[in-house]
Amino acid sequence: MEEIVALAKRRGFIYPSSEIYGGLAAVYDYGHYGILLKNNIQEAWWKDMVLTRRDVVGLDSSIFTHPTTWKASGHVDSFSDPLIDCKDCNYRMRADHLLEKHGYDVDRWEIEKINEIVRELRSKGKLVCEHCGKKNLTDARDFNLLVKTNFGSPVGKLADLTDDQVVYPRGETCQGIYLDYKNIIDSMRVRPPFGVAQVGKAFRNEIVAKQFIFRTREFEQMEMQYFLHPDDMDDAFEMWKKERFTWYVQSLGIPEEKIRLKKHEKLAHYAKAAFDIEYNFGCLGKFAEVEGIHQRGDWDLSRHASYSGVNLEYFDQVNNRRYIPHIMETSVGLNRLVLMVLDDAFSQEKLDNGKLRTVLKIKPSLAPIKAAIFPLQKDEKLQRVAEELYHTMKSCFTVEFDDAGNIGKMYRRQDEIGTPYCITVDYQTIEDKTVTVRNRDTMKQERIALSKVNEVVREYIISS
Ligand code: GAP
Repeated sequence: MEEIVALAKRRGFIYPSSEIYGGLAAVYDYGHYGILLKNNIQEAWWKDMVLTRRDVVGLDSSIFTHPTTWKASGHVDSFSDPLIDCKDCNYRMRADHLLEKHGYDVDRWEIEKINEIVRELRSKGKLVCEHCGKKNLTDARDFNLLVKTNFGSPVGKLADLTDDQVVYPRGETCQGIYLDYKNIIDSMRVRPPFGVAQVGKAFRNEIVAKQFIFRTREFEQMEMQYFLHPDDMDDAFEMWKKERFTWYVQSLGIPEEKIRLKKHEKLAHYAKAAFDIEYNFGCLGKFAEVEGIHQRGDWDLSRHASYSGVNLEYFDQVNNRRYIPHIMETSVGLNRLVLMVLDDAFSQEKLDNGKLRTVLKIKPSLAPIKAAIFPLQKDEKLQRVAEELYHTMKSCFTVEFDDAGNIGKMYRRQDEIGTPYCITVDYQTIEDKTVTVRNRDTMKQERIALSKVNEVVREYIISS
């Protein structure tokens, strides 16, 4: 993990937030290459989930919603993690994580059950603070994960909220989809089964803040909510489980043996059945969830119908039946996918000269930069050709021009960014209009006609 965190900062992928003030736990900023990588993953998701499907439409709902949303959704009452405090150093820990270290599979246990084990382990002196190592720990208690803020003095349309009314930046993006369900049905000529997809930020008061971007307080979700008749649920669930699993292999290039589908035994307050897609994170040393596939039943639309007083039933004219659509969701953390892609791509190789080469072997279609172009030396003739090539390529790909260092250093930098191709313009280029193209993974170099470079890079990206 330390190596990935260091590379992410050194090479402009991810920085700790507010670092000059000492940082803000579990909050991160994305630098130039981090944004490019994140956008590429997001585009791959949007393409597969929306653009190439006839049954899914898009949405970008607001981060703030009416506060009743979170009462109706059950989050105000039930969206919590079990928290334990150390009475000596005030360090806070997830009780379920502590118990997992003692071999218990604490999958959404009730707080009473957790406390039975906590007390037993504590009485035997086996429960230890993760920070100071002392044994003076409290019982576990439910800690609500919704972040709270307020809108101050309300104006205009918001006058229905009282002064300093608490509002919640959304704890999951899907609630905005449920609130817009009626608008979408009325405006988009869709009928069940159909899906609504969106990408956006979510906010949670996470207790644990030590796994880099795996678990943060501000993060992005890519969620798709599939509305259907309950009779269609089992088939849809199976179809989406397959589709989502395949996406990791085909679109993100993750080896099949590094991911698995895992059934949830205990369920979130809204779920009727659930599977996680888990990836075997080298940096965490274990399989961990990257995506949840949940059957939410009619929980969400029924609750919003009841709290808002708006009828959210669907009238199916073909079969002459009226029902509240059930929901099947796929929910994945974009930042967690960035960590997964970095984890899978990160490799270190010993070179013949004994030096260590660090390289991100990212699937070329996801790589932040597709090709880097270097003039071999700071020679006006070489620079002119290299710049011309850069201008030709940049309308097709994200490419970089670099003439700042020696060629070895420039290769090393591009390897660490994950650039699949480095193209060098040298004196032979002036004579025969060919360039050297170096492959990131094999480090092999070949000479290619200048006029063919675009084509070769495009072929490689498409076929990879
Ligand atoms: N709407 C359902 C839902 O939000 P979830 O299992 O709580 O389900 C779905 O979250 C996905 O969102 C997770 O699989 C994970 O990838 C991502 N996620 C959840 N909490 C996160 C956090 N604190 N930081 C980063 N990603 C998170």
